[in-house]
Amino acid sequence: MPGPFSGIRVVVYGVGAMGAIATRLLVEKGAKIVGAVGRSPSKVGRDLGEVAGLGTRLGVSVESNADLVLSRGADIAVVCVGSYLSSMHRHFETCLKHGVNVVTIEEETVFPWTTAPDHAQGLDALAKANGVTLAASGAQDVFWLNMVTTLLGASHKVETVVGRCRWNVDDYGPEVANHLLIGKSRAEFEDYVASSGWPEFVARQVLEALVARLGLKIGSMESDVTPVLADEQVHCRSLAAEIPKGHVIGTIDRTAVTTQEGPSFEFAMEGRIYREGENDTNLWQVTGEPNLQLECDDANYRFTTCSTLINRIPDVIAAAPGLQSLDGLNPPSYRHH
Ligand SMILES: NC(=O)c1ccc[n+]([C@@H]2O[C@H](COP(=O)([O-])OP(=O)(O)OC[C@H]3O[C@@H](n4cnc5c(N)ncnc54)[C@H](OP(=O)(O)O)[C@@H]3O)[C@@H](O)[C@H]2O)c1
Repeated sequence: MPGPFSGIRVVVYGVGAMGAIATRLLVEKGAKIVGAVGRSPSKVGRDLGEVAGLGTRLGVSVESNADLVLSRGADIAVVCVGSYLSSMHRHFETCLKHGVNVVTIEEETVFPWTTAPDHAQGLDALAKANGVTLAASGAQDVFWLNMVTTLLGASHKVETVVGRCRWNVDDYGPEVANHLLIGKSRAEFEDYVASSGWPEFVARQVLEALVARLGLKIGSMESDVTPVLADEQVHCRSLAAEIPKGHVIGTIDRTAVTTQEGPSFEFAMEGRIYREGENDTNLWQVTGEPNLQLECDDANYRFTTCSTLINRIPDVIAAAPGLQSLDGLNPPSYRHH
């Protein structure tokens, strides 16, 4: 029986921890994978099915020349590479200029208009010129945006909205662990933040998308980051390294916004190496009339990041050309096999 994605030609762009899961889901949904882009010599030249750990060959080689892969044509690229438009814009441009839509878990594109306005506008123009769409999904989509806006659909008056979530650094690849400065000493972490700043990772984009979806306007905004330090030596699976006591095993990224209309919002996201028995969390509390609470104690972000991303493919292909930040997409939906 044809799957919901049969006939959709997909390029898998980035075959790390997330790209590997996405590959399996694409195969099971019946998408036609027409190309794969990778980087390291240990992956380039090998069959995508093997690199993604599927135990079967897909007849698609991982290639390092993205331009060449995309020039052969595809409906959409599933991009799982990095987190910021400062580096990711080049990858997106390569896809868009070949007339290929992009769905990505790159975090900034969830709402890039204020943190990376030049890249966002440039990509929006390029996508429009080529009649295709660039959009981001991932854990933000269901758990931190659409579940929350659905809950707020039951509010008469909102005063405060406070979100808390936690995920395991070891569920992802080295890109994530390195970004969070896992393994650094407290002094190294503080020096880094003082000298380079700490680009808002997720919490800011989530709240900006949430506020935009609700039709409100930001009044003020503040963000900060706190390191989580090991209270004993901890093994980091994703870096294959021992983290000494007192060194960084995670971060808490927090953003708070007030709106011109009154309601205020706060979201704090803790990403760290878990202790035995811990699980992913998601808690949103609303004060107002009435008070409301939403809690999801096993969000399984590692998997749901990818399942949401893949479920978004038909939405992104159907969306109006341009960069569509997450507030502009309809709520996501299950796609039956
Ligand atoms: N929005 C969300 O919910 C969400 C959730 C999880 C992760 N993410 C983000 O998604 C990204 C990937 O996460 P991950 O856990 O999959 O990390 P990962 O395992 O480190 O994978 C990153 C992949 O990108 C590839 N790559 C890097 N530069 C490339 C290039 N120039 N061309 C082609 N491929 C390139 C790497 O290739 P090699 O292996 O060949 O070096 C690697 O396979 C991270 O930025 C992470 O923050 C977002």
